Amino acid sequence: MTDEQIRKIRDEFPIFGNIKQPFIYMDNAATTQKPKSVLERVNHFYCFENANIHRGLYPLSTSACNAFEGARETVRSWIDAEKPEEIVFTKSSTEAVNLTATALFETTIQAGDNVIVTEMEHSSNYFPWKHQCAKNGCEFRTALAEETGEIREESIFKLADDRTKLIAVTGMSNAIGFMPDLKSLICRAHEKGILVFVDATQLIAHRRLSVKELSCDFLCFSGHKLYAPMGIGVLYGRETLLTEMSPFLYGGDMVEIGDGREILFREDPGKYEAGTQNIAGALGLEAAIHFLEEHQFETELLSYEKKLSSYLNERLSEIPGLTRNGPSNQVSSIYNFTMKNCGAYDVGIFLATSGIAVRSGAHCAYPLMQRMKQESNVRISLSFCNTEEEVDLVADRLRYLSGTVYLKNR
Ligand code: ALA
Repeated sequence: MTDEQIRKIRDEFPIFGNIKQPFIYMDNAATTQKPKSVLERVNHFYCFENANIHRGLYPLSTSACNAFEGARETVRSWIDAEKPEEIVFTKSSTEAVNLTATALFETTIQAGDNVIVTEMEHSSNYFPWKHQCAKNGCEFRTALAEETGEIREESIFKLADDRTKLIAVTGMSNAIGFMPDLKSLICRAHEKGILVFVDATQLIAHRRLSVKELSCDFLCFSGHKLYAPMGIGVLYGRETLLTEMSPFLYGGDMVEIGDGREILFREDPGKYEAGTQNIAGALGLEAAIHFLEEHQFETELLSYEKKLSSYLNERLSEIPGLTRNGPSNQVSSIYNFTMKNCGAYDVGIFLATSGIAVRSGAHCAYPLMQRMKQESNVRISLSFCNTEEEVDLVADRLRYLSGTVYLKNR
C-alpha cells in the first residue's frame, strides 16, 4: 500500500484527527482504534433501531432481532464456521473462556482428568482452567516455555495422557507475539482424542482465520482487538459440543420451557446468551468486519502490516542495549523488548512524553515472565494504521534513550 492509501485509511479513524499531535498509537494489542463506520453503526442503532430482541412483536424489535442474527452470520462467515449456531456472543474473550471452562467441567471433564495450558497464556486463558481444575479434582498441567518465551509442541504433548481432555492455547502471545503452529498442534491433539481451545484474541487481527481449516473445537476473540467496540466478544464452538454443554449464565431468554417443570434450555446459541445482549456491540463488530473486508484485509492491510513489522524489527535491532524478547525468527506485529540500564516503566514513560503509546509491565502473562526471568518489559504492538514515519520516530527516540542511559553506564 502507498503512503497515500494508508493516510486515507487513517483518516477513517476519528481519534487520529482528534488527539493533539503527536499521537503515535502502538498499543494495538491492548485495544485497537475504531473506524468511523463502526462508531456510526453503534450510534445508528441507538438513534434509530433501539429495541430489545426476542421479546417484542412490534417492527422495531423484529428488525433489531434480524440485525443481531445478521451480525452472527457475518461473524460466522468471517471465521469460516459451518453454521451460525456455532457462534455465541459474549462480552469478551475472558467471558468466552470462563463460559467454556465452567460448562465443560459440568458435562465433559470429570474428577481425575487433566487439562493442559501453556506458560505463554494470558491470565484469561489460564486462571479459568486452573480454577475449574482445582474445584473439580482435576489436574492442571502447564506446558513449559523456552527461556525465549516460545512454546514447543513437544512440551505440550509430553504432558498428555489418556486422561487429558483439553489443551488451551493462544494463537498469538499477547506479550511476545509468538504464534505456535496451531494446525499441527490441533491435528496431533485430535489424534489423541483431546479437545483444543484456541485463544485467538490477538491472532484475530493479524491472520485471516478459518475454524474449518484449523479444525479447532473452540476459539474465542474480543471485538475490541478487531477495530470493534469494547464489550462484545465471540465464542466459536463445534455444534455438537455446544449442544452437549451446560449453560454458563442463567436468566432470561435462554429457555424453551421455564415454568414449574424441569427447565428446557434453548438448543441454539441463545442457551449461552442469558439476559439482554450487547446488540449495538454485535452490530459494531459486524461493521468492523465489513470495514476490513472493504479494505482487503488479507491482501492489503495484513501484507502492509507485515512489511511494517519487519521494518520495526530492522530499525530496533540497530539500537545498542536494546534486546528483543521472544523468538527472533518470527515476524510479528508484537515486538517485546528490554533496555539495558533502563526499566520497562521508565522506557514507557519516556516514550509517552514523545506522544508514543506502548505497554510496559508483565502483560497479564505472569508464568511467561517468570520463565523469561523478567518482571517487566516493553511491548510495541502495531496495526495497519501505523506508518514507517512513526516507526522511524520510535527508533530515533529509543536510540536517543540508549545514548543517555546505556552508553553512559556501560
Ligand atoms: N489483553 C490486553 C493486552 O495484552 C489488555 O494488553
